[in-house]
Amino acid sequence: MSASSDISSLFKLFGGRADQYQEISKESSDTASQRRWPVLSGGEPAAAAPVVAQAQPTVEPVAEPVQAAAPVEAQAEPEAVSAWSAAGLRSLLAKLGQEARTQVEEPAKPVVTTPKLDHIRILAVVSAKGGVGKSTLAANLAAALQRAGRPVLALDLDPQNALHHHFLSADEQQALGQRGIAHFDQDWREQGMSSAEGVFVLPHGLVEESQRRDFEAQLHNDPQWLARRLSDLQLAEGALVIIDTPPGPFIYLQQALSVANLALVVSLADAASYTALPMIDGLIKTHTAGRKSFVGTSYLINQVDNSRQLSRDITQIMQGLLGQQVVGTVHRDQSITEALAYNRNVLDYDPQGRGCHDILHCAQALVERLGSTARVEQPA
Ligand SMILES: Nc1ncnc2c1ncn2[C@@H]1O[C@H](COP(=O)(O)OP(=O)(O)OP(=O)(O)O)[C@@H](O)[C@H]1O
Ligand SMILES: [Mg+2]
Repeated sequence: MSASSDISSLFKLFGGRADQYQEISKESSDTASQRRWPVLSGGEPAAAAPVVAQAQPTVEPVAEPVQAAAPVEAQAEPEAVSAWSAAGLRSLLAKLGQEARTQVEEPAKPVVTTPKLDHIRILAVVSAKGGVGKSTLAANLAAALQRAGRPVLALDLDPQNALHHHFLSADEQQALGQRGIAHFDQDWREQGMSSAEGVFVLPHGLVEESQRRDFEAQLHNDPQWLARRLSDLQLAEGALVIIDTPPGPFIYLQQALSVANLALVVSLADAASYTALPMIDGLIKTHTAGRKSFVGTSYLINQVDNSRQLSRDITQIMQGLLGQQVVGTVHRDQSITEALAYNRNVLDYDPQGRGCHDILHCAQALVERLGSTARVEQPA
């Protein structure tokens, strides 16, 4: 029995007619769908494919040259394309896709402003070991440099809060109270005070232990904190900033070195200071690496005692090893200690003394290294 007689018998069984039979293929379903929703189909429905594939003559496929996809903007749009047509929809979808790509390609850049400090010179007084004379020398050098006619800011980055004792009288210290830079968000102009000789002194300030920890955490989180605060002060052109730091690898040292033009390492002429020099050298290298405004490291040998053979020998060895980097030596001088007891600098307290002479000599060498022509006059 043939297939057609089978179908006829089947239709008879259900009361139907075989001549109305139409086979439904997937292609004819797609065609019907395209006729119903032409806007989504991209054009006129294609002619329905025959249900049974007819034998086609064998033709070798011809390779078509592969065309690069034209960029969306380059596609010429027919002028009279309605937005509601299929072509209009494609065009709108293409534009949306292009906009999304543009947004991904060009993310909004955050505005980062680098603090401007080119107009001032910054000296960081540092050491690996404690008690070598950093605060004493920072204060006395500030007084000497101020005498040379430069506006000087003495900034205390050490939580010991000792620097202002070298400048301010007991009454001035009382008026100052607990003010200082450790009160994080305060205006620095209101945290400091001018000394009798005209140095603007910014103390560290006294803070509770928990406040100190918070302050240090803020310094850790904001490496440009000091740069920004100094920039905000709008110091006069050519002003000098001298920063006193605590000994060792603290965040304060890191902040000071992040802005310094010159690092001044203070060392005693003893074995302990000598062996600690590589440590501070490494810290300076780490925290100034690659910054063009950092001109280098200088060394000051303090409390040299010519009556002791060891002090003389270590001074000589350090001078031999460090050469031109040594800006000078400051001899042990009781006047330097006494001056502090009267809240005065040694230049005032004992202008003819050895200590005063040494400090003025070192100040002159530092001025030259910081690129200034100002002269630091020796007393007559
Ligand atoms: N050239 C000097 N002659 C005599 N005494 C000095 C000299 N330099 C510093 N001193 C004394 O040495 C002591 C320590 O000095 P200072 O406090 O300045 O050291 P420091 O390095 O700042 O200490 P710290 O690391 O604790 O901050 C002080 O009593 C000071 O008067
Ligand atoms: Mg100190």
